[in-house]
Amino acid sequence: MRQNAFILKGNICYAKTKEHLVGVEDGYLVCVQGISQGVYPVLPEQYRGLPVVDYGQRLIIPGLVDLHTHAPQYPFRGLGMDLELLEWLDTHTFPEESRYSDLDYAKRAYEIFVEDLRQSGATRSVIFGTIHTPATVLLMELLEAAGVKAYVGKVNMDQNCPDFLREADAGASVKDTRDWLEGTLGKFRNVAPILTPRFAPTCSGPLLEGLGELQREYGIPVQSHLSENLSEIAWVKELFPWSECYGEVYGHYGLFGGEAKTVMAHCVHSTDSEVELMRRKGVYVAHCPQSNVNLSSGIAPIRRYLEEGLLVGLGTDLSGGATMSMFRAMADAIGVSKLYWRLVDQEKKPLTMEEAFYLGTKGGGAFFGRVGSFEEGYELDALVLDDTGIRTTRRMETRERLERYLYLAEEGGRIAAKYVGGVEVFG
Ligand code: GUN
Ligand code: FE
Repeated sequence: MRQNAFILKGNICYAKTKEHLVGVEDGYLVCVQGISQGVYPVLPEQYRGLPVVDYGQRLIIPGLVDLHTHAPQYPFRGLGMDLELLEWLDTHTFPEESRYSDLDYAKRAYEIFVEDLRQSGATRSVIFGTIHTPATVLLMELLEAAGVKAYVGKVNMDQNCPDFLREADAGASVKDTRDWLEGTLGKFRNVAPILTPRFAPTCSGPLLEGLGELQREYGIPVQSHLSENLSEIAWVKELFPWSECYGEVYGHYGLFGGEAKTVMAHCVHSTDSEVELMRRKGVYVAHCPQSNVNLSSGIAPIRRYLEEGLLVGLGTDLSGGATMSMFRAMADAIGVSKLYWRLVDQEKKPLTMEEAFYLGTKGGGAFFGRVGSFEEGYELDALVLDDTGIRTTRRMETRERLERYLYLAEEGGRIAAKYVGGVEVFG
């Protein structure tokens, strides 16, 4: 494992801003103690003598950040794609998640998930587990050993879900969560806990109240779902009639940004006041385009969110999304933004490749700190991409090679090496 100080050489590409993709052919990416010291066309004097890993003509890009996914749903990916959210939860998701009360089952399933994640383009992920503490701790241990960085949540749900996947009551759910935090906080190098109320419908007021108290006591981040589906939103209004918008339900309990670093998945149908609340509170949006298509949720207005200065990254939302490929998430984000422009609002231009790449790297990376770019001072997460299997007669520039890699990663693309926090995961 390469760790302390080394240089990666190749065709380097990273996002500086949403609009500005930096490309340096035959460039040098310098890593010292896990931190990027910058990218150089000519190696500065002070770094001569450091070991160089020469990747030739391969592309070197920042690791991809999956801001929203569900590890326990991996076994049924690609199934139930004819259903909308609430039916899909009852038919596929809740029965599968209940199996994680059995630690042997959890081990078999999570080993597959973690091994596939290790091989994937994601270097950082924000992950839902299930309500079960032992299975969630096991997932954290497996991720730690695999060397990928993640926030992992033990899910909270105490109402409006089947008996076989419901915590006894708010008190029991909060107590289990506290015990889980005590057992995991600060225990890992790569993995940290995140509070995970599943979504407002499955969380009672007293449960959300207790989780808000835990957030303030332990200062840990929060993840949940927001305004994904129209029936879900109507249900939240019935359950919490006092709320001005869905986001305010979390906000009322201190689980929506501000001091509590928060990521909300989807935000497909957020109202104006909800968007303004997210902007004001610095809530991250995890845009999950493939899931939004599969569950017929709708198209999140990402151009609007970018124009209004919201913090946005991308997620796969397994298994609402069928694939854990973050390359696919970037290509899908571009695709659905074109449908939004054509069918919904002609003022909202489609996302460019540069913007989608920014969202999949630096946009989501910000949730983890200085992550998702190769600018000096960023934690060094990198992928080395071999695109020689994506055959063509054309000679391509670096930017073109990156663009088609987003679309064709699964057709001949290969990740030749992966680094997380300056540590080689494989290569
Ligand atoms: N809302 C509540 N639970 C879920 C889930 O597991 N997946 C998705 N996509 N939305 C949800
Ligand atoms: Fe989800």
